[in-house]
Amino acid sequence: MVGGGVRAGKVYSKALKCLENDYSGKQVAFFTCSGQGGDPKGYADAKAKFVEATLSNYPKISPVSTEAFGGKFKILGKTVTDTFDITKVEAWALELGKLFTQ
Ligand SMILES: Cc1cc2nc3c(=O)[nH]c(=O)nc-3n(C[C@H](O)[C@H](O)[C@H](O)COP(=O)(O)O)c2cc1C
Repeated sequence: MVGGGVRAGKVYSKALKCLENDYSGKQVAFFTCSGQGGDPKGYADAKAKFVEATLSNYPKISPVSTEAFGGKFKILGKTVTDTFDITKVEAWALELGKLFTQ
């Protein structure tokens, strides 16, 4: 599983670096965490911009599943907005568990 947060419209560079690895013969799932991903009105755009557009730069990767989660926006350690939904993360993890053991 590869994923990371989003800042100023860009997925964290460490996550992008992970996507450069050779995953031949391996199952890959990719996710992002962003403020927009947890907003029902912004979700589809977040999935297109942060997940699908990012993966289009790594054509060798055919993910078994992708997701755009919400996130916590903190300034000086204080949470300003919180669109993170742990229930959604847990549901996705269970789904991945099934996919990865097929
Ligand atoms: C400086 C900064 C810039 C951000 N830029 C965006 C953004 O462009 N779009 C967005 O949807 N969320 C944005 N966010 C919200 C983050 O994506 C959210 O806080 C996410 O949880 C970050 O991932 P992390 O918790 O793993 O660090 C930003 C947050 C910070 C602190």
